[in-house]
Amino acid sequence: MRNYYIAGNWKMHKTRAEAAELAKALAAQLKDGKHKYLVAPTFTSLETVGALIKGSNILLGAQNCAPEEQGAHTGEVSVLQLKDLGVHTVILGHSERRHIYKEDDELINKKVKLVLKHGLEVILCVGELLEEREARKAEAVCETQIVKGLAGVAAADLGRITIAYEPVWAIGTGKTATPEDADAIHAYIRKVVEKRYGAGAAADLIIQYGGSVKPENAAQLMAKENIDGALVGGAALKADTFVPIAKFG
Ligand code: 13P
Repeated sequence: MRNYYIAGNWKMHKTRAEAAELAKALAAQLKDGKHKYLVAPTFTSLETVGALIKGSNILLGAQNCAPEEQGAHTGEVSVLQLKDLGVHTVILGHSERRHIYKEDDELINKKVKLVLKHGLEVILCVGELLEEREARKAEAVCETQIVKGLAGVAAADLGRITIAYEPVWAIGTGKTATPEDADAIHAYIRKVVEKRYGAGAAADLIIQYGGSVKPENAAQLMAKENIDGALVGGAALKADTFVPIAKFG
């Protein structure tokens, strides 16, 4: 049985005071929530938010980390520093990292392995561009991102990996993949994982959908067999919109 996993990616939003206000509201309003929850504030708010959600049912996530443990890497943040702040999960391979900051699969794979090595969990984001979808390459793009992103990851560590399918054309655009389209890609992703890690690991794999998830469409998406949660951007910035998604249905 897979448990639903709803995560909020706050991206580059909020001062510490604003982040604290949201964290407090979520800790109070999700107290009776039944699913797995995570919030990923910007680095500068991790300590503040971490202190406020400590002991709650909300996990602390980071949005990225460096591919190296430490050293002369100006502007980067190490997984060791994240671990020190109580970070539980690192989001890696987000489309904004891939497309704006030109991160490739090899770099993302290095980060995945480093985060796993230090005992944290990973949300690995995959997803196709609009032109790739139109060229019927969505499945192939996701397959490559997963195979390369997970290269060298042992079966024993797969339990600490969540995949987030985020079609790039649906992120922040108000355009959501239909539940049917999303479910078809999720099913394909599960097959890709099954080929490499076996049926048991694939059946247990949590695959989140991301891209304009809102209170109005969350329940229909979550009702699909292969959609096990959501990675929420814009609607995660307010308790009024994140809580109904987190408590969908
Ligand atoms: P939106 O929910 O704003 O479309 O963002 C999705 C996303 O990128 C989450 O990581």
